Formats: sequence, structure tokens, C-alpha cells
Amino acid sequence: MSNKLEQVKERLYSSSRVVVLTGAGISAESGVPTFRGAEGLWKNYRAEELATPEAFKKDPQLVWEWYNWRREKIAPVRPNAAHYALAELEKRFRIFTLITQNVDGLHSIAGSHPIELHGSIWRVKCTECGLSEENRDVPIKILPRCRCGGMQRPAVVWFGEALDPEITEMAFSASTDADFMIVIGTSGVVQPAASLAGIAKNAGAYIMEVNPDPTPITRIAEASFRGKAGEIVPLFLLD
Ligand code: OAD
Repeated sequence: MSNKLEQVKERLYSSSRVVVLTGAGISAESGVPTFRGAEGLWKNYRAEELATPEAFKKDPQLVWEWYNWRREKIAPVRPNAAHYALAELEKRFRIFTLITQNVDGLHSIAGSHPIELHGSIWRVKCTECGLSEENRDVPIKILPRCRCGGMQRPAVVWFGEALDPEITEMAFSASTDADFMIVIGTSGVVQPAASLAGIAKNAGAYIMEVNPDPTPITRIAEASFRGKAGEIVPLFLLD
């Protein structure tokens, strides 16, 4: 791998507009369960069954219980070597955009400035007045209420919901302009995040992937590093 690593590093450091796209896999070594791995199951429910507006409408208590489980898992965890390496990498490029699908907040704790495509697990939003605010209670009191009396929901993007258009625009425009994109720990199946690598590729960017397993992004990647993010990403900082 070392020869390949050196070649890719050379390419990275000769690039001027770097975009990094991360998914649940980057937080796996911190102890946050991924969505599609076996650990992502909660009481035999899959994320796709609970992270939807329909599920919340039908049984908000159940959805909040799941989020409380996720909050409990995420609250004590710390960023890992991959999060810290990306925060360091950000300092080495004038134009550097970190786009994450993760809602765990670990990139920010590590010192990065991510575009959070899917929102944050530490924010809640009123289903009546739309007010969004931070709430770090673990566990959160079920069912949480806004000061207007409306029921609050997690301020995350669920399946079937549109992303915030301003955030989407920032992510698409950075991907279109990128000359190097690093895709880390995402299964590459949830849109529109999954299409960002294709957009960057079509616009001429070099695509590099870090994932223990092949994904749909592997096909378009010039370089794929098979392994854990916490072991591979820091290698890109070494001289
Ligand atoms: P997934 O759970 O679908 O995929 C996690 C990916 O991380 C897989 O490809 C794993 O092979 C890889 N992986 C596991 N351990 C890793 C490690 N130590 N280092 C690097 N990679 C590792 O998560 P996402 O692709 O992020 O959306 O899922 C996308 C979206 O689907 C999530 O943001 C969430 C989910 O449902 C919403 O909640 C809207």
C-alpha cells in the first residue's frame, strides 16, 4: 500500500480544492453504531423504519425512545484518530469542505467545520412553529414540548424528507468545484449524499475512498483504501 499511498498523497497535496464526504463508518471506531451494520438494529427495527415522518406521526414515543438510545450511545463517545486527522487536514488547504451525513457532532468536537447534511442529534425542532434549538438532555424527556406547546422532533433529516436547500447547495457547489474528493465510511446508498462523488467525478475531481468494504462509490474511485478510517486517514498527514 505504501507506494500507492505516496502517489495518492502527492495527488492530494497538489490539489487546491478538497472535499471530504463522511458517513457513519468514520464514527464506528468511536463506538457509534453504523446504520446498516448489524449493530444499527434497535429492538429489531431498522433505521429506515424509524427515521421517517410516518413513523413519528404513528408513534412519536417509539421514535423518541430510539433517539434516546442513540443519544445514550453517542453522548459519552469521543472523536477518533480519523476525525482529528480531518480537522488537521482542513488547516493545510485554503479551500477545504467537509460534508458529513453524520448527526453525532463528532467532527465539530474534533475541531472541523462540517456541513451537516442530515442535521444534528443534539438539536430538536418544533413540529408546530418550526423553532429549532439545542437540547443535549440524555435521556430527553419524552415527549419533549416547545415553549409554544407543540411537540418537538429530532432536528435531523428523515427518509423521504428534503434536505435544507441552502445546505444542499453548499454541498453540491463544493463538490462541483472540487479537484480532490475523499469519501470515508459511507455505504453510498442514501441520496443526495451518494451522488456528490459522481458530481465531483464528472467535474474532473480525483476520487479516493476509505472503507473496509467495496461500495457503489468504489467503481468511480481512482483509489480505494480498504480498512478502518482511524487507521488510514491519519496516514495522509504524515510527511
Ligand atoms: P451506513 O451505516 O449505511 O454505512 C456505513 C459504512 O461505513 C459502510 O460502508 C461500512 O463498510 C463503513 N465502515 C464501517 N466501519 C468503518 C470504519 N471503521 N472505517 C471506515 N468505514 C467503515 O452509513 P451511511 O452511509 O452514513 O441518514 O448512511 C447514510 C445515511 O443513512 C445516514 O446519514 C442516515 C442513514 O439512514 C439519515 O438518518 C437521514
